[in-house]
Amino acid sequence: MNKVADKLPIDITEIRKQFPILSQKVNGNPLIYFDNGATTQKPLSVINAIDNYYKTYNSNIHRGVHHLSVKATEAYEEARRTIQQFIGAEHEEEIIFAKGTTDAINLVAHSFSKAFIHEGDEIIISGMEHHSNIVPWQMACEERKAVLKVIPVLDNGEISIDDVQKLISDKTKIIAITHSSNTLGTNNPIEEIISIAKSKGIKTLIDGAQAIHHQPVNVKELDCDFYAFSGHKMYGPTGVGILYGKQELFKKMPPYQGGGDMIKTVTFEKTIYNDLPHKFEAGTPNIVGGIAVAEAAKWISSIGFDTIQQHDNEILNYATEKLSAIEGVKIYGTSKKKGPVISFLIDNIHPFDLGTILDQLGIAVRTGHHCTEPLMDRFKIPGTVRASFAIYNTLEEVDVFIDGVKKAKKMLS
Ligand code: ALA
Repeated sequence: MNKVADKLPIDITEIRKQFPILSQKVNGNPLIYFDNGATTQKPLSVINAIDNYYKTYNSNIHRGVHHLSVKATEAYEEARRTIQQFIGAEHEEEIIFAKGTTDAINLVAHSFSKAFIHEGDEIIISGMEHHSNIVPWQMACEERKAVLKVIPVLDNGEISIDDVQKLISDKTKIIAITHSSNTLGTNNPIEEIISIAKSKGIKTLIDGAQAIHHQPVNVKELDCDFYAFSGHKMYGPTGVGILYGKQELFKKMPPYQGGGDMIKTVTFEKTIYNDLPHKFEAGTPNIVGGIAVAEAAKWISSIGFDTIQQHDNEILNYATEKLSAIEGVKIYGTSKKKGPVISFLIDNIHPFDLGTILDQLGIAVRTGHHCTEPLMDRFKIPGTVRASFAIYNTLEEVDVFIDGVKKAKKMLS
């Protein structure tokens, strides 16, 4: 049994058996997968749900009276209810299936802006946002002649509530901020931000892509207006994501895309749009994706967030301590409130070189700007090496990773 499992009410060896991909060798070494911020691996229950769908009830939904179509429709709508429960939403109509977080944020940036943003209005984001929570707002600002304001990132990778307060004006319409930074790991004080925003009538969008599988999220308790996340970062498939939004806002927002399923009636003179959630789901959706992401949510719930967070903290603290002890290592993002993500550089070694040597050792990490170029500019660096952890990672893997980093450093210095 590994060291992490010793400290937890769960056996990581048993968990790893549910992830067939992890048992392979890469470049002659056992795979160590530390690129979970980019995408997580999938447990058998998710793989089997996909397999079962295509083997037994693949069909289009919402428009067939035949057996398979009814079965697929029921499974898809049941998946919506599973996600609703997973994030504590009040109504199933508030759960929109999208292609991913990027698609979900684009939907809000487009439709919310059309309904509520006017010339001179202001949108606030933070300096640690992923490009997917920057570019759609820049596009919205251009379209609506609005102004984008950015909360600065402090040296430790946090933001200050004072800075948020200073940026807010009577023109501010929405604050869009990440729950947990994909690059720095910082968990932002979204509860405080939402409460400040609410007291001033400002709407909030939370990018939950990096948080949804690491901490319990209850959108009703948070009282955010929108919460977006991706299936593939929470042990589900790619190509599917979820946008939660408050019903009263969704009702006032125009559709994002036109097509089948989002309509009630169509004539050449006028189209009547469908009710929620279908108004925002034009065309044949990723049916199996929706079903599988709900399976992933069930799988996460079966592990439980107490266990997940205990595991995350063990791994993060252990790896941070070991990595910090290597001379020349600088970690970017040193907040005490962090998800299991470590971004770092060693002296002036290029992150790609370090990443390439780690790959030779079978260790998968991410290198580059992590789709957060403005954040790299803030720290005046070209990129980082990022190790990001998931529930199947062990302390033994961290030990191998640390040895690998030392070896790479020796080769590249
Ligand atoms: N957003 C993904 C990452 O952080 C791709 O790696």
